[in-house]
Amino acid sequence: MITASAAASAASLLLVVDGPDLVGGSSVPILILVLALGGFGVAYMLVGPGKRKGPKRYGDIPLAQRPYHSDEELEGPGLERAMAWGVAFAVFSSLFLPLYWLIEPGRINNRVDEFYEQDVASGRAAYQNACASCHGVNLEGGSAPHPDPSISTAWPAPTLNNITARYADSAIVTDVRQHILLTLRYGRAGSPMAAFSVGSGGALSDNQLESITAYILSVQTGELPQAQGFVGQSRDTLFANNCARCHGENAEGYIGPQLLNVFERYGWRPGDDASLEQAKAAVKQALVNGRLVPGQAPMPSFALSLTDEALDELVEHLAGIQVTGGPAAGQIGGDPMTAVSED
Ligand code: HEC
Ligand code: HEC
Repeated sequence: MITASAAASAASLLLVVDGPDLVGGSSVPILILVLALGGFGVAYMLVGPGKRKGPKRYGDIPLAQRPYHSDEELEGPGLERAMAWGVAFAVFSSLFLPLYWLIEPGRINNRVDEFYEQDVASGRAAYQNACASCHGVNLEGGSAPHPDPSISTAWPAPTLNNITARYADSAIVTDVRQHILLTLRYGRAGSPMAAFSVGSGGALSDNQLESITAYILSVQTGELPQAQGFVGQSRDTLFANNCARCHGENAEGYIGPQLLNVFERYGWRPGDDASLEQAKAAVKQALVNGRLVPGQAPMPSFALSLTDEALDELVEHLAGIQVTGGPAAGQIGGDPMTAVSED
């Protein structure tokens, strides 16, 4: 019945007008139901059987055969009134539905934007509290002391306002949002980057981690760092500045595996030049792509922070300290003394 749909539409119109307070509440369906039933009631009173004042004097004539109103009566004001109401509701529905259809998506989008902005604002606050001391007030990056107090070189805390761009072509991270969330949730064992989720002993709820992530993603500059040259730096310094914090000052392994026989692990046999080239290529590939074991601290890609020449120097640095006879897998922190040099 047209009146009922009109009443239901009127209920939805209320939602448009008064949306924000009602949306989400379970009162909405009940309100619609009440208004729809009310609409039925009004329609019943206007055109329902109660209004038919037919003659009552045919007591014994079967219902179906009783004479009803005359044509004059039927085509009189009652009919016109019913038709006028019908037209009025038809016009209302035909205007209301397109209007609703036009307004509703915008209203929903505004709400989504509002939620997003609230999320980003609370993420910003939480970031300034928990992260800015290491990653910088404007996410420009910073550093933290090495967890091993005997090592004085600071541990760089990555720039976060370009994290999307940094991982755009990454071989190890395909979903930056997920990467940030996982890093926040579990931290990076052995590094200054702690686990922040309540589940991992931190103080932040999953919602807060989501908000912080939304904030980080909302302030991306898209700018990539300038790769550092290594002019004036020895291979040893390059290694000390970029690798030692994870692989140990003497490549003996720390949170990254020991690298003393990494060439051997990639197939190098002393005296076999082809296998040496192959091992160098494999190691360089690890520097360019970075490495990610799911659930573990990744090794970052160095392709953005060091020039190609610097990467080659690092490979040469490693070549200079290789031994053979070490463990076949890169055990983390494996004892380099078990490796027996053949030279
Ligand atoms: C005590 C210093 C410190 C604090 C506080 C800290 N971080 Fe970190 N964070 C680091 C360091 C150092 C790294 C690099 C770890 C590594 O080399 O693997 C890191 C890595 C990250 C990464 C990975 C970056 C990349 O390029 O893969 C993200 C994302 C991150 N932190 C976000 C945060 C957020 C968000 C907070 C606040 C909730 C936070 N960090 C608090 C020191 C810190
Ligand atoms: C934030 C910590 C971190 C830093 C910094 C880091 N690495 Fe790594 N590296 C790792 C981890 C963790 C692995 C192990 C990944 C895996 O098991 O695939 C690894 C693996 C490697 C491997 C492969 C080892 C193997 O057995 O396959 C090489 C080679 C390597 N790193 C060299 C370097 C060099 C050279 C640098 C300095 C330019 C460096 N890494 C800096 C953490 C780091």
